[in-house]
Amino acid sequence: MADPIFAGSRLAEIYDPLDPVRVDLDLYASVAAEFDVQSVLDVGCGTGTFACLLAERGIDVLGVDPAGASLDVARRKPYADRVTWVQGDATTLPQLQVDLATMTANVAQVFLTDDEWCATLRGVHAALKPAGHLVFETRDPEARAWLEWTREQTHKRNDIPGAGVVETWCEVTDVDDDLVTFRWTHVFESDGQYSPRTRHCGSGPAKRSSGP
Ligand SMILES: C[S@@+](CC[C@H](N)C(=O)[O-])C[C@H]1O[C@@H](n2cnc3c(N)ncnc32)[C@H](O)[C@@H]1O
Repeated sequence: MADPIFAGSRLAEIYDPLDPVRVDLDLYASVAAEFDVQSVLDVGCGTGTFACLLAERGIDVLGVDPAGASLDVARRKPYADRVTWVQGDATTLPQLQVDLATMTANVAQVFLTDDEWCATLRGVHAALKPAGHLVFETRDPEARAWLEWTREQTHKRNDIPGAGVVETWCEVTDVDDDLVTFRWTHVFESDGQYSPRTRHCGSGPAKRSSGP
């Protein structure tokens, strides 16, 4: 099921303006270059920034994401017409044989149970060529990054062309064993629309953690 923070069109439209500098994608692009890949599956492609970057380089890309509103944003980007966009996840893919699969920007942290994670890995494995690679990222749980996810430390006023001023902040609402629950709030100053969205992530060393 799509996470509402990515599936609602108003929030999907401001995803890129809120995070415009994507240096985090450099490492993924360098892996694609190092392995000289011809084809990539981008799992949780969201608004398609990485998929379009690869397509511009002549790589065959399939981007899959459950959030239709994010895919709508992706389809409007330069080089999007060279990407195959699929609404779904790694368990609902068409027949594929790609060189590389990627999960950029904490996609691996959306899977909260071993069953969900294993099903995703099985789907990715089936889509990869025998010598293919999967690249994903985790946070370092020992850094306990969620201690800094407070309203005071994350609050921003973002002036976004077309959307106006949008206030954003993140707050942890619960830390329970190896699961951190946190809430992103977006307030659109133009009409006062208030969109709190609760998410969860793992905190313990055997799990994965995510954050703002
Ligand atoms: C933080 S965003 C990252 C988006 C994109 N990869 C990027 O680099 O901007 C996490 C993405 O994971 C997607 N997602 C949520 N559940 C998923 C699932 N079960 N399988 C694949 N993607 C999922 C969300 O819709 C969202 O687009």
